[in-house]
Amino acid sequence: MARAGKAVQGGQTAGQEAAGGAVHDTQTSGREASSADQAAHGGDSPVPRHIAVVMDGNGRWAKQKGRPRLFGHNAGMNAMTEIVRHASDRGVEYLTVYAFSTENWKRSADEVSGIFGLLVKFVELKLRELIENNVVVSVIGDYSPIPADARAALERTIRDTSGNTGMRFIIALGYGGRADILSAAKKLAAEAVRECGEGCADISGYLSGIDEARFAEKLSTSGAPDPDLVIRTSGEKRLSNFLLWETAYSEFVFTDVLWPDFTPEIFDSCVEEYSRRNRRFGGR
Ligand code: FPP
Repeated sequence: MARAGKAVQGGQTAGQEAAGGAVHDTQTSGREASSADQAAHGGDSPVPRHIAVVMDGNGRWAKQKGRPRLFGHNAGMNAMTEIVRHASDRGVEYLTVYAFSTENWKRSADEVSGIFGLLVKFVELKLRELIENNVVVSVIGDYSPIPADARAALERTIRDTSGNTGMRFIIALGYGGRADILSAAKKLAAEAVRECGEGCADISGYLSGIDEARFAEKLSTSGAPDPDLVIRTSGEKRLSNFLLWETAYSEFVFTDVLWPDFTPEIFDSCVEEYSRRNRRFGGR
């Protein structure tokens, strides 16, 4: 089992599975996080199981070069491709990237359609490589309003990589943490009405059966462990509605580097910083 009681699907080694279990124990029982827990989690292999990335700074990078914003997004897509390959090579099990938030719909129509054009390009150019690297692609968020060609490309990628067993590359697209929590609450409410039945007067039995694990099952990230490490580039130090529930105990590493300049070496230095942290999960 992973932390917060979520089920972990496939891909992990026995040792990594055990590491997830140790972290789960620490969080749910509230006992002191022992050095054995920390060693189990990151000792032999300092690479976090789940890394989430806010890929920020494409626009500023382009501006510095006197180029249009889309030039920055294109460079950002190339950086993302490199990091997917590198994270997979390093044995990361889950890599989640914030590619497009619910708030990003407020950007100009040109920029929005340009980003989705890049998504199609990414899939066309990189699908074979993703398959060769055994990467499983999935999407969280409501991407139903995106252009039909981008949606088709995305769905093809999800389908064609679904049989892989390696790193899960999760693209947050049309994603918002609050919207996801709200959606989970609505799913539970609908379930309550169904289970309690017509004219139900006492729902307390149902409510007492809802715990954090059951709530987390209704989130779009269900099946993945919570992120161990969140990286945000470009000097901004906020979460911007990304994985609000899931990052309760994540470690954060911020770098001033703009996303298009983010390299595998910088990724490694973020992981290195993470490995020096003392994770206590609320214990002492
Ligand atoms: C944030 O930089 C970046 C985005 C909102 C888009 C991220 C998109 C990519 C990395 C490439 C496309 C890949 C996919 C999978 C769609 P910003 O534009 O907010 O930069 P700024 O803060 O400097 O303006």
